[in-house]
Amino acid sequence: MGTDRETATPHKNELFTGSNKDFIIRRCTTDDLEGVIKVNEKELPEDYPYFFYKSILDNYPEGFLLACHRKNPDKVVGYIMWRIERTPSKKSLKLINKGHLVSIAVNKKYRRKGIAKELLAQSMPAIKKYEIKEYVLEVRVSNYSAINLYKKFNYETQGIKKKYYKDGENAYFMSVKTKDLAL
Ligand code: ACO
Ligand code: ZN
Repeated sequence: MGTDRETATPHKNELFTGSNKDFIIRRCTTDDLEGVIKVNEKELPEDYPYFFYKSILDNYPEGFLLACHRKNPDKVVGYIMWRIERTPSKKSLKLINKGHLVSIAVNKKYRRKGIAKELLAQSMPAIKKYEIKEYVLEVRVSNYSAINLYKKFNYETQGIKKKYYKDGENAYFMSVKTKDLAL
């Protein structure tokens, strides 16, 4: 990650200016959690308590990224958060690290501008240091936008988790091996 001097950025936590120059991608801080929770509660039925976000941020800060409008870089318009899991690989009993996408959301007003794509494209390399072999996630079977988004990165559906969500909806379990990732 570059220093402020190297990247000459206007915001202390800015990582990257994506293809859409109106938005920046930056690391989340404790001060941002309120903004993250606001976006989550507006855009997703899966809500979590504050301490859950805080523990993700404390444990895996590299993968907890925000999208903000360049003109108002303190306001969160989108976020992505990952956790790292150590589980046996399918082929052998060897333990491998997997990146598990906990949640991603973008404010309705700012959708279809490439923000989610940018959040994924920036966060997956950002957690590389954990030597991740595979990225995994669950998504509602009805969530076409998100499924399309994941397919762009070469995620494939591996199976269905029945009644995964509180309202009874099924989830697709999707994954991509690091070597097959389209970034
Ligand atoms: N219809 C079809 N495909 C879509 C749509 C849509 N409405 N929106 C996004 N996509 C797909 C397309 O393939 C798109 O590429 P394209 O624009 O080149 O066609 C690609 O996703 C990337 O689009 P972005 O503009 O980067 O996506 P956006 O910033 O709009 O955010 C997101 C997508 C996060 C799914 C957004 O719709 C959202 O916040 N939805 C509500 C929250 C949610 O469902 N989150 C995922 C839950 S699953 C989980 O968190 C593990
Ligand atoms: Zn999950």
